Formats: sequence, structure tokens, C-alpha cells
Amino acid sequence: MAGREEMDYIYSLIDRIFRLSIGETGDFSGAMYDGDFRMTLEQAQDRKHRFIAEQLRIGPGTKVLDMGCGWGPMLRFLRDVGAKGIGVTLSQGQADACRRAGLDVAIHDCRTITAGTFGTFDAVVSLGAFEHFCSMEEWRAGKQDEIYKSFFRTVADLLPTGGRLYLQTMVFGKNMVDADQIDIRAPRDSNGHILAVMGRQFPGSWLPYGDGQIETSAGPCFRTIFKSSGRLDYIETIKQWGRHYRSFDLRKYAFYLSLIPRYIVSKELRQRLSRDQLRANIQCFEREVLDHYRFVFEKI
Ligand SMILES: C[S@@+](CC[C@H](N)C(=O)[O-])C[C@H]1O[C@@H](n2cnc3c(N)ncnc32)[C@H](O)[C@@H]1O
Repeated sequence: MAGREEMDYIYSLIDRIFRLSIGETGDFSGAMYDGDFRMTLEQAQDRKHRFIAEQLRIGPGTKVLDMGCGWGPMLRFLRDVGAKGIGVTLSQGQADACRRAGLDVAIHDCRTITAGTFGTFDAVVSLGAFEHFCSMEEWRAGKQDEIYKSFFRTVADLLPTGGRLYLQTMVFGKNMVDADQIDIRAPRDSNGHILAVMGRQFPGSWLPYGDGQIETSAGPCFRTIFKSSGRLDYIETIKQWGRHYRSFDLRKYAFYLSLIPRYIVSKELRQRLSRDQLRANIQCFEREVLDHYRFVFEKI
């Protein structure tokens, strides 16, 4: 699993840039355009929140756990509809931002939550965290299925029978290459190269092998109510993030300027902020090396 150190590497560096570009409590997961790309990013994120609320039967007073809450977009939505949301993240920057926004958030590994931690819940959501639950080393050691099964058991223990989980995650797509081909020195246009560029951004994280592995792992505890690929919507989301990051904001550009000394000496920072990174992310989904899935599960 990717731990706190990796989460801080992934999320805390971009914390300020993200908040100044997308908003203090912005979404850092695929939006729900359902193919209608005339919508703004904000509208498509709002559609996603409403879809989740409807599917999970969330209303005033519903108690919801957000596993991997990021900067708190779902928690904010829950508060707006009168539900009670509790979120957990592994990133200090995100937890601080959530608390500034008055959201109820703890730094806690969501895979270790029991009914004794925050009580039980009426519904659980997890968007963009499942990607981090298994590392490449754990996958190589044959532990991936058990890690996912254990996660679903953890969620099931927090829900009543009939309680629902919304899960959204990237997965390896139908054109995933053999792990040994993932190499930054592979030809620039190869799938092995773009995956290596993408992987640089997410140390400690290895993805599930398609929607099938997820459903099989969930199967002992949950039945699938809804499933859809959000691959095309995710490509649009990444493009919109790129536009938002570049859009002018005085405080953000002042922050970019303050990074210059570090940028000059740190190859790692140059790589992380490069356009190649964004391009590789988009290409991985365009070429179906990666896919993206949204599920609604119901506890049996
Ligand atoms: C891509 S962000 C998504 C954030 C948010 N759900 C959203 O839609 O904007 C992934 C989040 O998962 C969290 N995360 C990853 N692994 C976790 C774990 N084991 N326990 C708690 N949070 C975790 C990260 O800290 C981060 O907040």
C-alpha cells in the first residue's frame, strides 16, 4: 500500500496549486459528464455528487464515511444536503484544508477503520483512493486479491445489510502491458514509457486488473447495483485540470514563481510539473492502457 509518505509526496506538493486552481474543497477525481462535454468541470463534478447521493439514498441525517476524502468536495456536498459526513485522508495538507472548511476529517488509514473508530455508517463513498491500496511489490507477492477482499470486508462491517458503497477508481485497461515493459527508457511513444511517466506521479501504487477483479473481490460481501466506465469522462477531467492549472491567478502565479529556485535544482520537481506528465496521463486513458470505473455496491 502507498503510505503517508507517498501520499504526502503525491498530494501535499500540489496542495497549494490545486486549491488555487480548482478551489479550496475541489474534486480530485474523475467528473461525471456522461459524454456531455459541453458541461463545465464544476457542473460535471456536481452531477457526480448528485448521482452518488441518489444511488446511496443520502438525505438529511444520513451518516456517510468518505474513505480518501481529498480536499473534501463530497463532504461539502453532504453538509449542504444536511447529511453527516466523516472523511479520512492520509495527506496532512488535505486534512488541514478540510478542517479550515469546517469539515469533519481525520488522518487515518481507511483500510483499518472498524465500527469502534467512528461508529457504523448508513453509506460509504470512496473516490480515487482504491488506486493506492496495493503496491507493485504486494502485487508481485500475490497479495492483491486479498488486499481488495479485505477492504470490502472492512466496508461491509461498517454498513447495515442493504447499505451501499460508491467506489470510483482507475484500473488497468485492456491494453495494459506486461509489468516488465514499464520503463522510462522504453521508446518515448510506447505504452511502457507513458506508464512509467504516469507511475512516477504515484509511487507505491499498483492498479486493479479491470472491473472484473474489483467485482470478484467485492462479491463475498456486495452485489453490484451499477457499473460504468468513466474513461472518456476522465480524459476530459484531466484536460480541464490542465486548463485550470494554467489559468491566471495572481496568488497562484506568485507561488509558481516561488518554486523557481527549487525547480532549477530539482529534476524531480521539473518532471512532476512538466507537460509530458499531463500528456502521458491522457494517453494512458486514450490508448486504454488504463480505464476508469464507477460502481455502486450493495451489502448482501
Ligand atoms: C485522488 S485523491 C481523491 C480525493 C477525493 N476523494 C476526491 O474525489 O476529490 C485520493 C485520496 O485518497 C486518500 N487515500 C489513499 N489511500 C488512503 C488510505 N489507505 N486511507 C485513507 N486515505 C487514503 C489520499 O490521501 C487522497 O485524499
